[in-house]
Amino acid sequence: MNKTAIDIDRIEAARRNAVIGRKTIVFKSTASTNDAAWRYASNSLHHGLCILAESQTKGRGRRGRVWYCQPGQSILCSILLLDQSIEAELLTLTAAVATAEAINKFAWQQQNDCAGTAQPPKCRIKWPNDILVNDKKAAGILVEKQTVGRRHNFVVGIGINCSQPPEFFAAHDLNFPATSLAIETGRPIERTALVCELLAQFETWLDKTRAGRGGPAENPVIACWFKLSGMLGRRATVECDGRQYSGTCRGIDPAQGLILQLDGGAVRFFHASQTSLTALE
Ligand code: BTN
Repeated sequence: MNKTAIDIDRIEAARRNAVIGRKTIVFKSTASTNDAAWRYASNSLHHGLCILAESQTKGRGRRGRVWYCQPGQSILCSILLLDQSIEAELLTLTAAVATAEAINKFAWQQQNDCAGTAQPPKCRIKWPNDILVNDKKAAGILVEKQTVGRRHNFVVGIGINCSQPPEFFAAHDLNFPATSLAIETGRPIERTALVCELLAQFETWLDKTRAGRGGPAENPVIACWFKLSGMLGRRATVECDGRQYSGTCRGIDPAQGLILQLDGGAVRFFHASQTSLTALE
């Protein structure tokens, strides 16, 4: 397994003309990179700041879950976005698409699937933002929002399992089967190169999201999200506020979330922050 430390100089050199990751800080250990990123939010010069850590002592996931790590085996990354007019739901989908595209390109040399190659993507998205490889979770995304006056600030937290062995996942009580990129590729994962790809993809997709014109159907991020999730038009069951809902997936509304036409015929929206996918047929 590859234990080489993340190289901040290489990341900043690769991102010197960019916005996302032009300034990067790497902690040996911190409670949560999301918390560390929030500490920089009061200064507008910190827009695009990337916080990385070799280890987290209180890593958190969606819906109050714990995000586990061992030092040096993951990418634990938080990106600070200040004064943004984007919907949190759309930012979550943007981060999921960027992460899946980065992993596909880095680990399997799959060139931007959403730009249209014939290859089925190796890395897929499960609603709303679980990143799966061979049906096991390899990465997750936690977007947090704080509003100060009329300014909406966000931290986009991304965790990627890189070098964990199978025993690591067996030792934890996980709500969904998990894996690492080293297990799935059979090769060591060079984390610095993957961080550079991730930051580049995130900036590209964030720009596309902002430039998106017209309705959700024309938004390139939503179109790519559907390609990577395979959900559009399929029957799905979701859990929301302790109840199960089944229906056919009709689309995504950037503000209100997943659109399901329920079996009774009614159309209902499901916010990413409150909903988990329990079945896709
Ligand atoms: C999930 O799938 O539930 C989301 C997991 C998000 C984990 C990342 S790791 C970096 C950042 N810091 C955290 O505490 N959480 C996110």
